[in-house]
Amino acid sequence: MPVRALGGQGLTVGAIGLGTMGMTMAYGAGDEAGGIATIRRAYELGVTLFDTAELYGLGTGSNEQLVGRALRDIRGDVVIATKFGFDMSAPQNADGYALNSRPEHIREVTENSLRHLGTDYVDVLYQHRVDPDVPIEDVAGTIGELIAEGKVRYLGLSEAGPEVIRRAHAVHPVSVLQTEYSVFERAVEADVLPVVRELGIGFVPYSPLGRGFLTGAVKPAAEYPADDMRSWDDRWQPGNYERNLTAIRELTALAATKGISVTQLALAWLLAQGDDVVPIPGTRSPQRLAENVAAADVTLTPQDLARVQEILPKGAAGSRYPEAIMPSW
Ligand SMILES: NC(=O)c1ccc[n+]([C@@H]2O[C@H](COP(=O)([O-])OP(=O)(O)OC[C@H]3O[C@@H](n4cnc5c(N)ncnc54)[C@H](OP(=O)(O)O)[C@@H]3O)[C@@H](O)[C@H]2O)c1
Repeated sequence: MPVRALGGQGLTVGAIGLGTMGMTMAYGAGDEAGGIATIRRAYELGVTLFDTAELYGLGTGSNEQLVGRALRDIRGDVVIATKFGFDMSAPQNADGYALNSRPEHIREVTENSLRHLGTDYVDVLYQHRVDPDVPIEDVAGTIGELIAEGKVRYLGLSEAGPEVIRRAHAVHPVSVLQTEYSVFERAVEADVLPVVRELGIGFVPYSPLGRGFLTGAVKPAAEYPADDMRSWDDRWQPGNYERNLTAIRELTALAATKGISVTQLALAWLLAQGDDVVPIPGTRSPQRLAENVAAADVTLTPQDLARVQEILPKGAAGSRYPEAIMPSW
């Protein structure tokens, strides 16, 4: 697996990472043994960046515990990224969990993450969502203190816009920005990617497979169980679903001309956007993991990239989040 640098502070990782969210939430039930086997297979295949969050355990720490257990004996060889930013003690309402990036809360959540992960440092600590009630300078300053204390190695932001990125970076260098980006979701291209490139910040596209749509292994929203977010995701709703499926069929035909899967095409497209990009596809299966990681060896030609652009000039039909929880930059 080729290695890529994220930011200018010394962070380097395999070109494709692994997102672990789906092992405990979002896409229906996962099982711990399958999650651990997938993480171990990822490591064998050269993946070094593992992405978790306080949120993914819904306040129980379960996702970080799973990641920590899987990586315990190879801790020094891998990069663990986790995130704070929600108040998991408050009940979830229609807008999701309340935000909380107050400095004392960041410290408390970080201590919990270290305990759940079974480690004494986190490699990348991300603010999961920008908290409008806490100046980003206070957030970056607090993470800077945690870095000075050796509890954290690198500062990350998620779903931050250009102004917030600049203000945080002025207080403490931001190593990586994580935001949704894929063939389906292109919003970062206008204002966000130019800023991270100007500042030398690495970029981690999350949901790089469009929450699974870009694998082609999809069914209409009504056929997913209630604990699978694709039952309500706008891109799966009638009308949008059919339009997106047509695009997937065209992308699959393009992939076939290259002898690769549409999943690999989607990941190779992201890798082709720049060597500062490290996607973190999520899967609970060692077999699917191997398929995904093989995308690191795929080279797309300018003609391939032009054909993708022709198929999906503006990305998917349907919004990536409901209005109430759509991050605003
Ligand atoms: N910062 C944020 O706000 C944020 C938000 C969302 C996600 N994330 C991070 O990004 C990571 C990835 O995003 P994601 O998990 O939402 O979406 P994703 O990577 O775009 O897609 C995941 C879905 O694709 C399926 N899949 C993966 N590989 C496949 C393959 N080769 N063939 C068929 N199906 C395949 C998975 O199912 P199986 O598990 O059954 O394989 C899962 O349902 C998360 O795990 C999380 O770490 C961050």
